[in-house]
Amino acid sequence: MVGGATTVVGVIGNPIEHSLSPRMHNAAFEYLGLDYVYIPLRVLEKDLKNAVRGAKAFNFRGFNVTIPHKVSILRFLDKVESTARKIGAVNTVVNEDGKLSGYNTDGLGALEALREAGVDPEGKKILVIGAGGASRAITFYLAGVCSELAILNRTRSKAVKLASDLKSAGFKAYGNGLTVEALERELVDTDILINTTSVGMHPDVDRSPVPEELLHRDLVVFDIVYNPLETMLLRYARKVGAKPVDGVGMLVNQGAISFKMWTGCEAPRDVMRKAVMDSLLGRD
Ligand code: ATR
Repeated sequence: MVGGATTVVGVIGNPIEHSLSPRMHNAAFEYLGLDYVYIPLRVLEKDLKNAVRGAKAFNFRGFNVTIPHKVSILRFLDKVESTARKIGAVNTVVNEDGKLSGYNTDGLGALEALREAGVDPEGKKILVIGAGGASRAITFYLAGVCSELAILNRTRSKAVKLASDLKSAGFKAYGNGLTVEALERELVDTDILINTTSVGMHPDVDRSPVPEELLHRDLVVFDIVYNPLETMLLRYARKVGAKPVDGVGMLVNQGAISFKMWTGCEAPRDVMRKAVMDSLLGRD
């Protein structure tokens, strides 16, 4: 129960009403008996600066940041961790004695989700579809472990820019436009395909960023979209005998990493996963 001594965390974004994070984190606080509460906070773009000041003034322990503030929040923070700065996006803020520090847990969350699914990206060729914020977060973590990284994006210049930013950070990466020819060429020797775009996400459920005929059975296909749980891309993957990995693992793991930053406690990932699944499957 919320009381006078309760520590407050939350998520700022717009829209925010469909976020699963409040349920996921509050289930974890309750399970561990921590006197914390996680609240959804709808913040308009024009109000972001004041919202960040407010979070400090209210002495929030921290907060998650989601669309559309992940990039614009950087300039309002006291400190930004170096990888988050290279990514150019923050999804987690921690209040350390009145100073707000920004981190990005999406990339590590994705890496942990793959490992949890029994997939080791070490020494593998990875093909990432998309070059937006989520792609930047994931590629900056995976580039350090995989042997080869290709990025294909609808807007070619963004894929080329991301590959060039990765190279400046000391990694090897290749960027190009998202065309059937490029997909065909890259997929032949790809081990892990990752969709970071919103193609296939509710309500756009009848679309896939990659046609079925280009997939093959030796692939792991990881879709960061979790609504629906089985996207059209993952259905294709299952049909061709590839290994599908859904987006729930990344959602839970990025949340679990933030949870530990705020509380110092190891997050109960199974409890968080159950809260997410209950929400997605309408079991609550
Ligand atoms: P996020 O933070 O979720 O990554 P984002 O930064 O807006 O969101 O990035 C969205 C990504 O999905 C981009 O790579 C975008 O491609 P563009 O750079 O060409 O805009 C991609 N995307 C969105 N809708 C798409 C579509 N219908 N087909 C292909 N790619 C799409």
